[in-house]
Amino acid sequence: MRTQVGIIGAGPSGLLLSQLLHLRGIETVVLEKHSREYVLGRIRAGVLEHSFAALMREAQVGERLDREGQIHEGFFIAHDGIKERVDLRGLTGGKSVIVYGQTELTRDLYEARDRFGGVVMHNAEDVRPHDVDGPQPYLTCRVGGEVVRIDCDYIVGCDGFHGVSRQSIPKDKIRVFERDYPFGWLGVLSRTKPVSPELIYATHERGFALCSLRSEALSRYYIQVPFTDSVDDWSDEEFFEELRRRLPGDVSSALITGPSIEKSIAPLRSFVVEPMRFGNLFLAGDAAHIVPPTGARGLNTAASDIYYLYHALVDHYSKWDNRGLETYSQRALARVWKGQRFSWWMTMLLHRFPDSSPFDRRLQETELAYLFSSEEALASLAENYVGQPF
Ligand code: APR
Ligand code: PHB
Repeated sequence: MRTQVGIIGAGPSGLLLSQLLHLRGIETVVLEKHSREYVLGRIRAGVLEHSFAALMREAQVGERLDREGQIHEGFFIAHDGIKERVDLRGLTGGKSVIVYGQTELTRDLYEARDRFGGVVMHNAEDVRPHDVDGPQPYLTCRVGGEVVRIDCDYIVGCDGFHGVSRQSIPKDKIRVFERDYPFGWLGVLSRTKPVSPELIYATHERGFALCSLRSEALSRYYIQVPFTDSVDDWSDEEFFEELRRRLPGDVSSALITGPSIEKSIAPLRSFVVEPMRFGNLFLAGDAAHIVPPTGARGLNTAASDIYYLYHALVDHYSKWDNRGLETYSQRALARVWKGQRFSWWMTMLLHRFPDSSPFDRRLQETELAYLFSSEEALASLAENYVGQPF
């Protein structure tokens, strides 16, 4: 089998790239390790920048997002028993974010790939890129017991943090930058009315908490837990009791609880690999970088990678102009690092670190006090939260 661009991974990055390229007449094949049901069963964050929505519209998959996505013009930071609003719209000259679950977004992308006859091979075992530093790279895998070989011009690794693409690059050709945090987020999805129509990020001496939502009847809550905890350590009752303790009184008394329909722990990690290209293999999304979820940057940073790569590939195939491909890594990384900085800053500001000194605590308190006493500091937060231009 032959295609122009072989894509590994059918998460949002791989599906969006495949759909965008298809509309510009560029052929792709997507190889996904898991089943479609498995991919659609994952619950991930759901705050999108408007530039992401614009890319979805360009890919002709923005209709439901425009109809059902909720525009959020602000969010709250709760601390010391009060909550203070970050007026995104006022602070950014009219910008906002869109709350739309990643699961729904992935469903829309799948639906579009079906509609346009896109090739997505599921349950692809042992996917491997070959000869990526030569002119004729190819992919191999096993599907239903059959060995499949796909010859391509380019291979794009959209296979997430644990994928094979990054691991196939010789160690001396890449550099890894990373930081692990000594805690995770325990998340609960429940079919209850959200406690607040706008997100509440709460910092408390017992740890961080977040009140988020998916719709008017679906809530998503998180609490910071030690990374050694497991989901089984927390009953629904214990989870909500702990969440209540970390929220201001008026919020916790308004909290409606209900049985969890999903409960999981996500570790917090900052990770970047440089460069994001090795020969004819390009990395995009979580395959190249991970952020802690505090700044809602993960999916949005994946979107900017896809934007740069999409334009680079279109320029290559339509004009034989390779400048976009040559500068992809550099351009993508410039934005990746801005997202890294912001996510790290939000994480440091709002979490309790088990090893923090009294000095660290005072700095954290002062950072928060400074934020809410300075329009400029708040404007900087807002500018980063709504997303810097691509
Ligand atoms: N072969 C084929 N597919 C693979 C392999 C492999 N060896 N390893 C992983 N995959 C698949 C996964 O099963 C998954 O469906 O690659 C896909 C990667 O998808 P995501 O992890 O969702 O990554 P990405 O598409 O880059 O999504 C961007 O940003 O931070 C986030 O939460 C956000 O997940 C979102 C991400
Ligand atoms: C979520 O709704 O899952 C969510 C929202 C904002 C974040 C992280 C996660 O910063």
